[in-house]
Order: sequence, then C-alpha cells, then structure tokens
Amino acid sequence: MSADIIDGKAFAAKLTQTIGDAVANVMGSGAPQPALAVVLVGEDPASEVYVRNKIKTTEASGMLSIEHRLPDTTSQTELLALIDQLNHDNAIDGILVQLPLPDQINADAVIDAITPDKDVDGFHIVNVGRLWAGLPSLVPCTPFGSLLLLKDTLGDLSGKNAVIVGRSNIVGKPMAQLLLAENCTITVAHSRSKDLPAICREADILVAAVGRPEMIRGDWVKPGAVVIDVGINRIPAPERGEGKTRITGDVHFEEASQVASAITPVPGGVGPMTIACLLRNTLVAASRRHGYALPADFE
Ligand code: GUN
Repeated sequence: MSADIIDGKAFAAKLTQTIGDAVANVMGSGAPQPALAVVLVGEDPASEVYVRNKIKTTEASGMLSIEHRLPDTTSQTELLALIDQLNHDNAIDGILVQLPLPDQINADAVIDAITPDKDVDGFHIVNVGRLWAGLPSLVPCTPFGSLLLLKDTLGDLSGKNAVIVGRSNIVGKPMAQLLLAENCTITVAHSRSKDLPAICREADILVAAVGRPEMIRGDWVKPGAVVIDVGINRIPAPERGEGKTRITGDVHFEEASQVASAITPVPGGVGPMTIACLLRNTLVAASRRHGYALPADFE
C-alpha cells in the first residue's frame, strides 16, 4: 500500500483564506482589526523562523501583528511587566510568547500571567481546564490543526482507536482530550510505556509527538492507519554535502507510507496548520472580547 499524503500546506492555505474572509467581513461591519502580540525573547534560530512565519501569515490574513523583541538577558520581572501591559491593552486580542524562554525565566509563570481570554496558545491553566471540562476555550494550535486534518481525512472519528505518542502539555495531552471529545478510544503512550511498537500497532489513528527523529518505524504502523506526524527535527544530511541538514518528523516516512492509508509529510503537514489555527484562535478571541458572531464552524 502507498499512503495518501495529507497536504497540510494546502489545507492551511484554505483555512487562512477563510479566516481572512471572516476578518474582512467583521471589519466591514465596524469591528476593530483583530490584533496579535508576538513576544520573542532572545535569538533562538528556530524560534526566529517560527515567529517570522506567524507574523507574515497574521498580516496576510488582514489582522494586525505587533512584535515585541526582547534581549536574551531580559528578566522575568521585565517580561511579566510587558505581559501586564498587553493584558490591559484593549487593542490587543491575542498574546503569544514564543517558547522556549531563556533559563532565567520560568515559562509556567509567564503562561500563568497571560489573561486567559487572550491566551491564543491555549496553554493557560484556565483554558486547559475548560478544554478538559468540554467548555468553550482557546485550544492549543498544533493538536487542533492535527484534528482538522484527521476529520478532513476520515470524516467521523467515532470509535476509532487513537494512540498518541508523547504526553506534552503543548501537544500530547490536549490531543488526547480533542480525540476523546470526538468519541475515539484514547491511549497516551510515552517514553516509559512498555512495548511501544505493539501499542502503536493497535492504532487506527497514530499521532507522533515525541521529538525523536524517525523513531516510529513502518512495522509499528497498523495497515490502513492514518498517521499524523507532529515532529519537526533537524538532522544531519551528509548526502546533501558536508555540514548540511534536513528536517524530518518523528515517523520514518518512507517505511510508514508503505503501510498507512494516509500520512502527513514533514515539512508540509501539521506545521502550517499550527499557524493557521493560531490565526483562528486570534479571531475567536477577538470575537469573544468584542461580542460579535463568527460563522458557526469557527467555534
Ligand atoms: N514553541 C514551539 N511551539 C510553540 C507553540 O505552539 N507556541 C509557542 N508560544 N511557542 C512554541
């Protein structure tokens, strides 16, 4: 079998267009321009790329993007003061602090300081709790984007066995909750799980979010499964020349695509969906703050 390739880039482009249309629509009715504040502390090269893409796409959708760049010597007190200012700025609808943060700053304290109604990452404990309770919340972007791809590929997810490899707060845990809400049977596997290959082979839906390049091999995949690869790993690529690198996922793509019915590529799978869902969250946050309605499928 050769799997269908799930084109996250094309899906994200369509979603970004839909969001752009909705932004134009609400602004045409007199709503203020939705605005996202993006905070980058330090000069981590990967974060620089992510933030640049987030800002570019935000602006392309017609929303306002306000960038705050702080040196890597920034203290926690200074960062918390900026967040306090953004929390109280009525023109700001979403606040995103790019992670990781320098060692002198406690990321939990920073996430906790963002007002939940502007927490477009969905990391604040109030949004985490609301998601688990099945209440309206802001949902973390990567798992939400993965869910949209799964629903587009499979339609109804009811009764499917879903295995999530990885238990991070950013992906694994919220992914479990989102799939549970779609009536899947959930297994969250992790580095201490016994016989991980056997657990993975039970999956109709396999979500890989471990951060280990190409760890999930073809013989871990049940024939016909749908595989979502959340990993973005940079590895040496000597075949491309000395010192060259390439990006790869947590799944061994060549092997898994012989067994799965559908699989996301890396790059071009989940990554673009994360940014599209950030825009969606910013628009949802703006609509709730200003009290206007969005098309039904936004909520
Ligand atoms: N760093 C890696 N992924 C993310 C994300 O989804 N949000 C933020 N804020 N930082 C990240």
